Amino acid sequence: MPPAHAQIPVDDETYVLVLTGAGVSAESGIPTFRDLGGLWEQYPVEQVASPQGFRDDPQLVWSFYSERRRRGLTCQPNPGHLALAALERRLGERFLLITQNVDELHRKAGNQRLLEIHGRLYQSRCAHCQRPPFDDERCYDASGAPPLCEVCEAGGRMGLLRPHIVWFGELLDPRHFLEIEEFLERSRSGRLVFLAAGTSGSVFPANTLVDQARAAGAETWLVNAEPPDNAQRFERFVQGRSGEILPRLFG
Ligand code: OAD
Repeated sequence: MPPAHAQIPVDDETYVLVLTGAGVSAESGIPTFRDLGGLWEQYPVEQVASPQGFRDDPQLVWSFYSERRRRGLTCQPNPGHLALAALERRLGERFLLITQNVDELHRKAGNQRLLEIHGRLYQSRCAHCQRPPFDDERCYDASGAPPLCEVCEAGGRMGLLRPHIVWFGELLDPRHFLEIEEFLERSRSGRLVFLAAGTSGSVFPANTLVDQARAAGAETWLVNAEPPDNAQRFERFVQGRSGEILPRLFG
């Protein structure tokens, strides 16, 4: 294992593909999913983060996401987020950030070359009509009725609004995979680095990106508080908090 001050050399030929997970937002005060006291401990996953859970009890699902919306509004990007935003400014098109986080903190930090593959907490969409997702910071409590789509209502239907989140059992947006493939293809003209940070490596398909990157010739790095499930698939592992490691990781 390299020492905590290990650095990834970055020059004009370097492409960097980053995958982040909940650990990157832990130092901003957002609980991770699987750590002690994590998000799934208070609510069973299938009840609050699945299409079936939403059909059974949309109010419960909305109260779960409303609580996350409220809490997230008071959270700010930490030095780990800011380091990735600085790296994007430095590399431009040779940078791409894939996040499993829905908290939008990478966006808040300034990243634009960003794929939020599990959705966005501050967007909603209609569960029925094709209206595109829209910005929405509103919160709905368990005691009230779940929100209806204004577009559906105007047509005399009763479409429910839902958070713009990819739930268990749902498919990721295929356009994101195309963008990742296109990035890997472009990186063939230079040197590719793949970095995963703050993710337990337990959720498909994000946990297979490391294999895809390796197949494209990437050097693979992992920054995480503990060795996660797929740690042995990385060449370099730097153990520690991403808010401390990321700001001094890129040489
Ligand atoms: P997890 O909660 O599974 O894992 C977070 C990882 O971050 C753990 O391995 C921790 O050791 C590590 N960690 C905690 N604090 C850290 C810190 N300060 N610095 C670095 N690492 C730290 O979260 P994810 O891997 O993001 O999906 O979970 C993946 C997906 O599972 C989520 O996007 C969510 C969930 O089901 C959906 O909601 C669709």
